Amino acid sequence: MGKVTTTSLLTKKQAKQKIAVLTCYDYPTARLMNEAGIDILLVGDTLAMVVLGYETTLPVTIEEMLHHVKAVKRGNKNALIVADMPYLSYQIKPSEAVRNAGRFLKEGGAEAVKIEGGREMIKTIKAMLDADIPVMGHIGLTPQAVHKMGGYKVQGRENVQAERLKQDALLLQEAGVFSIVLESVPWQLAKEITASLAIPTISCGAGKYCDGQVLVTPDMLGLFPDFKPKFVKQYVDVRKIMLKAFKQYKQEVESGKFPDKKHSY
Ligand code: KIV
Repeated sequence: MGKVTTTSLLTKKQAKQKIAVLTCYDYPTARLMNEAGIDILLVGDTLAMVVLGYETTLPVTIEEMLHHVKAVKRGNKNALIVADMPYLSYQIKPSEAVRNAGRFLKEGGAEAVKIEGGREMIKTIKAMLDADIPVMGHIGLTPQAVHKMGGYKVQGRENVQAERLKQDALLLQEAGVFSIVLESVPWQLAKEITASLAIPTISCGAGKYCDGQVLVTPDMLGLFPDFKPKFVKQYVDVRKIMLKAFKQYKQEVESGKFPDKKHSY
């Protein structure tokens, strides 16, 4: 597999080839995902919840995100690395957003950033692009707005909201984003938005008609049992495998079975 770039993703959409995206937060997982040929490693701000144990994505900081972006970079060869901009790192003013986004490229080794929001983010997106920072959009359910939305709810079920999302997608494309994540919107709406855009859409609970799919990796591995949205497919129960290993290890240490001669100098 050749190096995935923001432009090769466009070629994929044109060739009707689907784009596989997973969230990634560390070095060994980045290496495995490269072996599996995953197109985009998204260092998502879900880091806050699924790795750092915060209740929402809001508390995670730029420094915490950068720490993980750097680890993913060290394990990556071919995938495109997209760093999620944490809450309040891009909402205050465009110049501040450019400075913070630039850190993910300059210090973290990311190749693009992702920000949540529609039309209200146009100025910021343009400022980032003027600084040669590729931007991925994210509309629909935007978890950083959880308190404003009153919870993690499907977006775009009503006509007015659906129309607004369609317009936002076109406005983001016009502003220059290379791709848009559609989170928790009805598949019919996602299908319509995908057909209206030249750039690829990535579904996060937005059905099969998007140009690509993203899952939060600990969710698809069965490592994060606290919260399981309907759209998440669990491919394996890693939690069960790990728990079995930890219990066996404890039992062998306590009984003296480990270490044996084979594992001693
Ligand atoms: O932070 C994240 O992991 C995300 C994906 C769920 C799209 O934004």
